Amino acid sequence: MPISLSQIAQQGAHGASMMPIIQGVGRAAIEISSLLQTAVFKGALGVAGSENIQGEQQQKLDVLSDEIFLEEMKSTGFVCAVGSEEQEELLVINEYASADWVVLVDPLDGSSNLDVDGPVGTIFSVVKRKTDNNERPHVSDTLQSGQQVLAAGYVLYGPATMLVCSVGAGVHGFTYNRASSRFELSHPDMKLPATGGYYSVNEANADKWLNNMGSNLENLKQETGLGMRYVGAMVADIHRTLLKGGVFLYPADSKNKSGKLRLLYEAIPMGFIMEQAGGKAMSDDGMAVLDIEPQALHQRVPVYLGSHSAVDCLLGIK
Ligand code: AHG
Ligand code: MN
Ligand code: MN
Repeated sequence: MPISLSQIAQQGAHGASMMPIIQGVGRAAIEISSLLQTAVFKGALGVAGSENIQGEQQQKLDVLSDEIFLEEMKSTGFVCAVGSEEQEELLVINEYASADWVVLVDPLDGSSNLDVDGPVGTIFSVVKRKTDNNERPHVSDTLQSGQQVLAAGYVLYGPATMLVCSVGAGVHGFTYNRASSRFELSHPDMKLPATGGYYSVNEANADKWLNNMGSNLENLKQETGLGMRYVGAMVADIHRTLLKGGVFLYPADSKNKSGKLRLLYEAIPMGFIMEQAGGKAMSDDGMAVLDIEPQALHQRVPVYLGSHSAVDCLLGIK
């Protein structure tokens, strides 16, 4: 009998309370995956004509994926609010405003890949609200460091749809089986290889990188001989890094002094997964990603995520 997502209830101290949310993520994933496969026939490809809070063009599929994810979080009955890349403000779920959990989400990651039928993903994490349950959830509920995260993970919409997640008891990968209409455990207890793999970065920005990153990357290449892969969708690049080893980075540069990736719904969830898989998740100034105290919902941070040796080499730590 294949092991289904409900097995999460057996994992660690928070598995049982996180299970309804992760099952909700699973339902959203199936809907988003099917939407992606049929988008071209429904006129759902292309720009929506709006911008998100980061000033980026929203794709129609960004907006639709966000709606699907929010509906599925609502349907769990356990989520009081969702902070999304696609929403300027925290979305309070009025029907369940006294519930315990707050979810952060990048509903569709790597959306520049949509036009070329490349892989995209969804990234999420869960924290417990800080406000009292009888108060209205507030954006301050989302401003919690990665040390407070109870569950996090991602969905990769590739040739197969995979849900990779952790409730703080290791990382487990589930693959959607269309025949059984279920996510089935396919990659138990994923561990990042300590050596080997690839470095993954948009090297076109190298001349603008700060903090000696250009020469540190040259050192990494010389010392390790790592090959290079870059999909341009964080979910796909992190998934490969988890399975094959190496490092994914999005450093600060002279144009984007805090890098590009968002702390709450990209860096922290992926940092949590990396550490749970035995890897390392760092930002600049010697800060571990999970130790950064967030100041704003849409804050950006530089990230270096991967094996200890590759991350240390990039950061000049010997
Ligand atoms: P999103 O599509 O959610 O805005 O995220 C895009 C991100 C991330 O997926 C990827 O790692 C990065 O942007 C790629 O950026 P560049 O095109 O600058 O390399
Ligand atoms: Mn993203
Ligand atoms: Mn996105």
